[in-house]
Amino acid sequence: LTAQAASALQKNETRLRHEEYADIDWNNLGFGLRPTDYMYKSKCTSHNTFQQGQLIDYGNVELSPAAGVLNYGQGLFEGMKAVRGEDGRVLLFRPDQNAIRMQIGAERMCMQSPSVEQFVDAVKQTAIANKRWIPPPGKGSLYIRPLLIGTGPILGLSPAHEYTFLVYASPVGNYFKEGTAPLNLYVHNEFHRTTRGGVGGVKSITNYAPVLKPLLRAKEQGFSDVVYLDSVHKKYIEEVSSCNIFLVKGDVISTPSTIGTILEGITRKSIIDIAQDLGYKVVERLVAIDELMEADEVFTTGTAVTVATVGSITYNGQRVEYKTGDGLLSQRLYKRLVGIQVGKIEDKHNWVVEI
Ligand code: COI
Repeated sequence: LTAQAASALQKNETRLRHEEYADIDWNNLGFGLRPTDYMYKSKCTSHNTFQQGQLIDYGNVELSPAAGVLNYGQGLFEGMKAVRGEDGRVLLFRPDQNAIRMQIGAERMCMQSPSVEQFVDAVKQTAIANKRWIPPPGKGSLYIRPLLIGTGPILGLSPAHEYTFLVYASPVGNYFKEGTAPLNLYVHNEFHRTTRGGVGGVKSITNYAPVLKPLLRAKEQGFSDVVYLDSVHKKYIEEVSSCNIFLVKGDVISTPSTIGTILEGITRKSIIDIAQDLGYKVVERLVAIDELMEADEVFTTGTAVTVATVGSITYNGQRVEYKTGDGLLSQRLYKRLVGIQVGKIEDKHNWVVEI
């Protein structure tokens, strides 16, 4: 490019970055990565606090081949969503909870972590800098992915001496290719997600690659996702590859208690509060697979997934189908959660943060 052409391109790019909406098809957002304009980056060496971070152009990061994250999996991620309310406000949902979860995970993985204030500030900056990628109201959200990784080089097994905190974002629609149609889940008794004493309760990157094999196998057979059983008794349900799970029997809602093997989902705990606000009894306990098969209704929760109705579960060659359609509790909970998130329903818990 000539210098003149490069400068014209740069000007065009700057102009585009200020337009209200990016030029994409907002009606067909799935859950794929769509690179946006900026990401946030901050570093820290061990025994120090994170430096003041900054927004930089979205792009590749350079890593030492000996980085702790590449060799020994020293990494955590978070997931959250920024939405546009109908009144044009940009809203986040409980970002302090993601910050606290990252701190708890960092402690388990022997990593330095950003303060809650720095985490929330980084998320806000990333959302606002990429505002043109936040879908129009009702079309989806800007999925924000904070990452904390050991970037210092190490060879022997030990914590890295340098950590990087990155936040990037991508506009998304429905997580499952089924859209909002009921999910068909497959229960695995051969593969487990985590074990007692492991890191299943924190958002370690190492919890996700091991589920790819059972997940792909299940998808090949037409299932949406996999339900994992506990690795000791092979009897109690734990969670789904991408989300937590709930069952409804009569007017009682049950979900597996978080005993270190189950991710402490922020949507999970918000749904527990919303269900209780609506007068339902919610019990966190050990839930046997047989009870899941006999439930009236089953649903899953997660940031990416929101609240998804389950239409069937297949376990040991047996398939059970649940009620779907209008009047489901999962749909009521979904509407209430999303209504609060987009500023349409009163936020009595003070969960929503306006940027
Ligand atoms: C989320 O729901 O935000 C997650 O982190 C799950 C991931 C598998 C997309």
